[in-house]
Amino acid sequence: MKVVVTAGPTREFIDPVRFISNRSTGRMGYAIASAFAGKGHEVTLISGPAALTRPDLVGMVEVVSAADMLDAVMAEFPVCDCLVMTAAVADWRPVRRSDSKMKKGTASMTIELEATRDILREVSAVRQSQILAGFAAETGDPSDEARRKLSAKGLDVIFANDVSASDSGFEVDTNRIVCITRDGSEEEWPLMTKKDAGLKIAEVVERLHDARNA
Ligand code: CTP
Repeated sequence: MKVVVTAGPTREFIDPVRFISNRSTGRMGYAIASAFAGKGHEVTLISGPAALTRPDLVGMVEVVSAADMLDAVMAEFPVCDCLVMTAAVADWRPVRRSDSKMKKGTASMTIELEATRDILREVSAVRQSQILAGFAAETGDPSDEARRKLSAKGLDVIFANDVSASDSGFEVDTNRIVCITRDGSEEEWPLMTKKDAGLKIAEVVERLHDARNA
C-alpha cells in the first residue's frame, strides 16, 4: 500500500518570531509511519515542526502551517491508498501576519483569528477508494465526539484519545485509544506505548484496506 501519515503540530505565525501552536510532539504519527514502513508499505510522512528523527524507510515532507499541510496532503492524496491524519492541525490562524516583529508598548492587544480549512473534510470530498483514518483529541470521555467526527468527516476509522489524562495524548510515550470504525464497532485498547499503538493502528488500517479491496 501507499500510505500517507500526517503528524505533529502546525504553526500559525503572528509575526516573524511568534506563532500559535499546540502541544503535539509528533510521536504518535511518527510511530504509525514507522509501523507501516516496518510492514513493507511505501510511506510518506507529512510532518509539522517536530524534534524527532525521520523513521527508517519513510519519505518525509516537512510543513509549517495548516495551509502548508493541506497543500501537501492534497498533492499526495490522489495517489495513495490510505491517509492517517494524526496531525494536530491548528483550527484557527491569525487573520493578519505582520512582516516585522510587533513591538510592545500597549497594555493589551487583540489577535483576530480565522478558521483554517479542515483537511479531512476536503480529502473526503474528493476521495476515491482510499481508507481515511482520523484521530479525535478530546478532554473527557472521547467516544461520543469521536463518533460525531467519524461521520462528519466521512472516515472509515477514528482513533480517539483523552488528551487531558497524564498517561495519554500529548507529550508522553504512552496512549490509551478507543478505536471506532464506520460499521459501528468500538474497541477500547489498554494503555500501551505509542510504538505498540502505532503497530495496532497500522493493522486496523491494513485490515480495512484489504476488506475494501477483497
Ligand atoms: N483535522 C484536519 N484538519 C483540521 C483540523 C483537524 O484534518 N483543520 C483532523 C485531525 O488531524 C484529526 C481530526 O481532524 O484527525 C480530528 O481533529 P480534532 O482536533 O480532534 O477535531 P477538530 O475537527 O479540530 O474539532 P475540535 O477541535 O473542535 O474538537
